[in-house]
Amino acid sequence: MQNFEFKNPTKILFGKNQLEKLNQEIPQNAKILILYGSSSAKESGVLDEIKTQLTEFNYSEFGGIEPNPTYENLMEIVDFVKENQFTFLLAVGGGSVIDGTKFIAAASCFEGETASDILVKQVPVTKALPLGTILTLSGTGTEMNGEAVISVQTEGSKIPFRSPAIYPKFSILDPTYTYSAPLNQVSNGIVDTFTHIMEQYLTYPVDAYVQDRFAESLLIILIEEGPKVLHTPTDYALRANLMWTSTMAINGIIGAGVPQDWSTHIIGHAITAAYKIDHGKTMGAILPAMLEVQKNEKREKLIQYAKRVWKIEKGSEDEMIALSIIKTKEFFDMMGVSTQLSTYGLDRSIIPTVIHSLEPLTDLGITLGERGTLTLDKVAQVLELAL
Ligand code: NZQ
Ligand code: ZN
Repeated sequence: MQNFEFKNPTKILFGKNQLEKLNQEIPQNAKILILYGSSSAKESGVLDEIKTQLTEFNYSEFGGIEPNPTYENLMEIVDFVKENQFTFLLAVGGGSVIDGTKFIAAASCFEGETASDILVKQVPVTKALPLGTILTLSGTGTEMNGEAVISVQTEGSKIPFRSPAIYPKFSILDPTYTYSAPLNQVSNGIVDTFTHIMEQYLTYPVDAYVQDRFAESLLIILIEEGPKVLHTPTDYALRANLMWTSTMAINGIIGAGVPQDWSTHIIGHAITAAYKIDHGKTMGAILPAMLEVQKNEKREKLIQYAKRVWKIEKGSEDEMIALSIIKTKEFFDMMGVSTQLSTYGLDRSIIPTVIHSLEPLTDLGITLGERGTLTLDKVAQVLELAL
């Protein structure tokens, strides 16, 4: 196992009716801004429930954070936050609203020239307004991590940033709040979660038994329980387990002390930025293609994955690897998430565009893959296969 430091300061309040504790989690004298997306928080009634809990507090609200939130739109909210001197941000929604809120929290306290530097120049964020979240769609895991992904229209890219300052102070995870989410978004979340786990697990072995077994158990839960949610979307036990799996997948625990390979995400973000395909859907197409192209780099772990996750015992090692990739694709298909980008009308013309958008990374010396061996030529092969 590699050396690691681990700290996760986010308090989780998990389960039914946990919203009743909201008023204990926010300082009494806070000036709160509640942030949400287009309409779901209003329509589902969660926004009204929140207001009921905050009757003794000073709060305002701001709706309209869009999916894949943009720097340009978020900066309008940053101005509003600064003008009105809000001291606490409360995000109500899925990954987009929470990530957008994390950026607003950081940009509102940014003392440099322009807050776009947080993204474009990766200037470290040392200060942010405190924030809490009420999650309504699980998958991204942003409710318990110090990361956000923001689109920058002028750059034509989707850029992650991380900081200890943007961990939510608390996150309320009530699985019943996810019942109203469209099933295609639920599927996106499950495939996204699966990919998060794979990018921390499916690299090369470092004798990290705890992380490996934990990752494998989370993958098995998704495989066994994920498809059921499409038929019984209001099954509480299912939703609770899927929600907690998503959170545990990317809160630092399974990734501590192991090599990681986030290249599927990097390519997926480039596709979302250029073609507006949902994040989870890009994962469904890129991950299996990545495993295929990188199967020599990932050989030992792919064999372990085949045996332990898919229980494949027969055949040569090459056959086991091939079957594990087929089974991964079958699982995504079962979830209703296509493994081919052509489903979304994309064709070979995307390859030069995506490669071009990744060139700045390689210019900065950022290498892709767990050993830095995923060249842009190989990325082109991944895209070719994913079409
Ligand atoms: O805008 P509203 O009205 O809220 O509708 C949303 C949106 O249209 C809807 N929705 C959410 N909860 C609902 C609901 N509709 C009905 N009932 C509910 N309970 O679902 C739609 C999609 O929401 P969005 O937040 O965009 O989806 P998701 O949670 O998949 O988030 C995607 C974003 O998260 C980023 C992605 O890049 C993308 O920008 N990610 C963030 C990560 C992180 N911070 O750690 C990691 C991930 O890998 C990912 O990159
Ligand atoms: Zn993701």
